[in-house]
Amino acid sequence: MKTSQRVAVVTGGSRGIGAAICRQLAGDGFAVHLVYRGAEVEAKKVAEEITSAGGRVTVHQADVSDEDQVRQLVDDVHSQSGRVDVLVNNAGVIDDRLLAVTTLAQWEGVIRVNLIGPYLMCRAVVPLMLEFGYGRIINVSSNSVRIPGPGQTAYAASKGGVEALTRALAMEVGRKGIRVNTVAPGRVKTDMTDAVAAQLGGDAGPRWGLPEDISALVGFLAGDGADYIQGQTITADGGRLVMRPQGTRRAS
Ligand SMILES: NC(=O)c1ccc[n+]([C@@H]2O[C@H](COP(=O)([O-])OP(=O)(O)OC[C@H]3O[C@@H](n4cnc5c(N)ncnc54)[C@H](OP(=O)(O)O)[C@@H]3O)[C@@H](O)[C@H]2O)c1
Repeated sequence: MKTSQRVAVVTGGSRGIGAAICRQLAGDGFAVHLVYRGAEVEAKKVAEEITSAGGRVTVHQADVSDEDQVRQLVDDVHSQSGRVDVLVNNAGVIDDRLLAVTTLAQWEGVIRVNLIGPYLMCRAVVPLMLEFGYGRIINVSSNSVRIPGPGQTAYAASKGGVEALTRALAMEVGRKGIRVNTVAPGRVKTDMTDAVAAQLGGDAGPRWGLPEDISALVGFLAGDGADYIQGQTITADGGRLVMRPQGTRRAS
């Protein structure tokens, strides 16, 4: 099937890495369904850019941590496009604070969006992929799983969970033509990291990543050329993981 007949759903498409993924996939020919939670103006701006570049995009508002909203979202996409070929679980939040002062509600808030969100999205979309015997699920984790900073117990646990979900789901659906992989970015300049960029930017590590550094990899994993890649976590961090010896992450 030609890419121009394929349909992609991207969560967290209003800003940062998700916006770049929407632009990448639309540029590659996919009909893109961009999902945002609150940033309507930004989401519509991304959609306008895509449309004026000749791409196809539909904008949806939904909270990925809400079961009913996810069900409604996937129903809407299905009735509009009839299929889902690619799901990118990119929506995420960060709420770093030391474990000793983290309330259960704060910890759960991160887990709900970053881990329960991908579970709900996968559960809603996998049956549609099984119908066609084809699918690409790309989850976005973080290299905080391997080099967490202080205050990242919830964030790192949520992203570690996403990587485990990827492997387990790949086992379940691999023989049905569905590929499930994770992309683990390093530090990428977006709204999420703007607040800490000044504190973190001065070390001797690799340059800050750009959203396009991540979207290029997602574009590859969404394509037919990635058919033999299954259940993997692929890091895109400019080499931070290999350049930094274990246990030497600077305390913030
Ligand atoms: N930036 C980095 O350095 C970095 C590094 C490693 C991993 N990551 C991961 O990469 C992904 C994107 O990060 P980013 O830096 O681009 O983040 P960002 O600029 O803060 O954007 C986050 C996106 O997620 C959406 N979102 C948040 N909660 C949501 C919810 N409950 N339901 C639906 N959408 C929701 C936001 O929607 P609204 O704007 O509409 O609210 C926004 O589009 C995240 O999963 C993040 O953990 C980022």
